[in-house]
Amino acid sequence: MSFRSVHSCIGSLGSDLSLLADGVLLVDREMSKSGALDLATGVGGKIKKEDVQSAVEQYEKYHVCFGGGEETRKANYSDMVNKYYDLATSFYEFGWGESFHFAPRWKGESLRESIKRHEHFLALQLGLKPGMKVLDVGCGIGGPLREIARFSSTSITGLNNNEYQISRGRELNRVAGLSESCNFVKADFMKMPFPDNSFDGIYAIEATCHAPDAVGCYKEIYRVLKPGQRFAVYEWCMTDHFDPDNESHQKTKAEIELGNGLPDIRTTKQCLDALKLAGFEVISEKDLAADSPVSWYLPLDTSQFSITSFRLTSFGRFITRTMVKTLEFVGIAPAGSNRVSSFLEKAAEGLVEGGRKEIFTPMCFFLVRKPLSES
Ligand SMILES: C[S@@+](CC[C@H](N)C(=O)[O-])C[C@H]1O[C@@H](n2cnc3c(N)ncnc32)[C@H](O)[C@@H]1O
Repeated sequence: MSFRSVHSCIGSLGSDLSLLADGVLLVDREMSKSGALDLATGVGGKIKKEDVQSAVEQYEKYHVCFGGGEETRKANYSDMVNKYYDLATSFYEFGWGESFHFAPRWKGESLRESIKRHEHFLALQLGLKPGMKVLDVGCGIGGPLREIARFSSTSITGLNNNEYQISRGRELNRVAGLSESCNFVKADFMKMPFPDNSFDGIYAIEATCHAPDAVGCYKEIYRVLKPGQRFAVYEWCMTDHFDPDNESHQKTKAEIELGNGLPDIRTTKQCLDALKLAGFEVISEKDLAADSPVSWYLPLDTSQFSITSFRLTSFGRFITRTMVKTLEFVGIAPAGSNRVSSFLEKAAEGLVEGGRKEIFTPMCFFLVRKPLSES
């Protein structure tokens, strides 16, 4: 069997399951790098294949579970976060699709539907209108950007510090026919390369949690937003149920930080205070996890089985693990791939634990406005 046939064989496993699951041909699945071989060859992103193993080691050392400290993570946030997304992006695309975020979910709604609805909600809260110029802060490979641009007929700039994700985003925008109206800029959201008052609306989905300093990050967003306009954000937060003196709470927090490239997960109150300190007026705030009929972490919960999110189930993850191990052994996936798979498994366990104990939420929603005149 040729390399090409192996590729299409393994790659089709995912599409077949999607077909089974949804009963329709999911064109966007075809566009995504969603096959097992895509996963294996994509591990490491822009890191040279032979350097992946040492990048994994360096990444792990930033974290508590491997003796790392918060100050080092904050001082080296750019290196830590970029390494994380170089290592993890192909796993995300394989398991989750083009949008790398969670969503509150109604009974009877599929994961994909809930993810899109969560994106549409932001567009509605921002009051997006055709022709507006919008910024997506920490845009991943642009899944939300494409969905929101199509939903609202706006022109969206995706800001991201990870070169590999931007190259994937550009390719997916080209296939979707959105290259004219939407673009990507590679830059750090702590120092954005845009003039003051540039955008009619700004949103950030599960991205500003990577900032080493929330006030600094929100201040940059404030600066580039036009006066009177809105910023909407889904933040990762420790909730009021989190007890910093509780060892098991701290262990869960550390697992989430390790598995998700985070310097330090802030509390809901810290995020709210930071938004106010940056100068914003708060319109509304709500933890959307609190009254979600279906828990956001359900797709990661190994005690559940779902045909629509098969790859995230216990059996699906077992298959992925075995494939990654095998492809690493035969030299298709770079050395170190299996360790990435392991710390992502840890992340999933931490997230489920955090969700179950209600000490963590990935969807604390804040809607804020930049005042028309600064006081
Ligand atoms: C969990 S992903 C979410 C991506 C996207 N919002 C989505 O929902 O699909 C977090 C994103 O934030 C980006 N990011 C993290 N730190 C950043 C920084 N300092 N500057 C710009 N982007 C950053 C990462 O590269 C990644 O694309």
